Amino acid sequence: NFGDDEDIRPEVKSLISSLPSYTDVEGKKLCNYQGCWYYYKNLQAVLDYQKNFKPLDTDIIVTSYPKSGTTWLKALTVALLQRSEDGLQNHPLTSDSPHGLVPFLEMKLYLKSSTPDLTNLSSSPRLFSTHMPLHTLREPLKDSPCKIVYVCRNVKDVIVSLWHFRSRIENKEAERSKLESIVESFCKGVNNYGPFWDNVLSYWKGSLEDPDHVLFMRYEDLKEEPYDQVIRLAEFLGCPFTQEEIHSGSVEKILDLCSLDNLRNLDINKSGIAWNKLHHSIFFRKGEVDDWKNHLTTEMADKIDMIIHEKFQGSGLRI
Ligand code: A3P
Repeated sequence: NFGDDEDIRPEVKSLISSLPSYTDVEGKKLCNYQGCWYYYKNLQAVLDYQKNFKPLDTDIIVTSYPKSGTTWLKALTVALLQRSEDGLQNHPLTSDSPHGLVPFLEMKLYLKSSTPDLTNLSSSPRLFSTHMPLHTLREPLKDSPCKIVYVCRNVKDVIVSLWHFRSRIENKEAERSKLESIVESFCKGVNNYGPFWDNVLSYWKGSLEDPDHVLFMRYEDLKEEPYDQVIRLAEFLGCPFTQEEIHSGSVEKILDLCSLDNLRNLDINKSGIAWNKLHHSIFFRKGEVDDWKNHLTTEMADKIDMIIHEKFQGSGLRI
């Protein structure tokens, strides 16, 4: 239970007691740090990250609000950086899951230790991921030129994806009452890593202010024009495709390797267990745009749209 007080150090407990807090419908406790809601254990890890992380200039950080396409973006990033002349056979993605190859800072590395050993990570450059908002992520990065890629997704699909994800974790049928409570918590903005709009806007604004170091991507764009988006990602990461690669179909090979069906059917993702004891398979479901239309009522959708419209107004962000 991430909302437990267990294993929280006294100085963190003392900080938590001074922060706004909230207990969700499942009885999990959250508190608000730098404008974002966290379960206590994740907050402790965020604080340890902020205090102890030493960036390298070449680091790459894959970021998102949960259920926005994190797994896909991690896979694409690994595939782009680790493409070699022998093609994609024996690619690292066939022997480890995207989450194993691109570990979460606050949900894995700093959750396990306040000073994790980052010297023997499997990737070079080092790859990390997070769901924390940009201002919180950037604190220890200071003037580091490391690259940050964010993926954003339509909030209504995020909600439906989260509903199914939570039900799968509990090994239960997806119940309507759960969906209603998720919609309500999203609308209030009091939920894990929420408010959703603040998370998205932190990266949207960051990408406008510093486009060389922050790239803002959309799940829907990746679905609609995967080829162009992967080329865009490769350029941002500093590993653009050569003409030769383009002609030899390298972009298509990467897209195939990272497709939902291919990843889902790899043994490692079919039967493997992730660091948090979850089955890798639960990160792969339908992967469709507008699946919310099958689940949300018009009333729910209108309410969410109204809030998001108001929050994103004037930002230039198209939703
Ligand atoms: P759905 O639940 O709508 O199917 P995250 O990786 O941030 O947890 O997001 C999970 C969502 O991304 C799920 O959406 C999942 O099916 C989808 N997804 C996972 N891998 C994908 C891939 N390779 N291509 C497209 N979508 C993918």
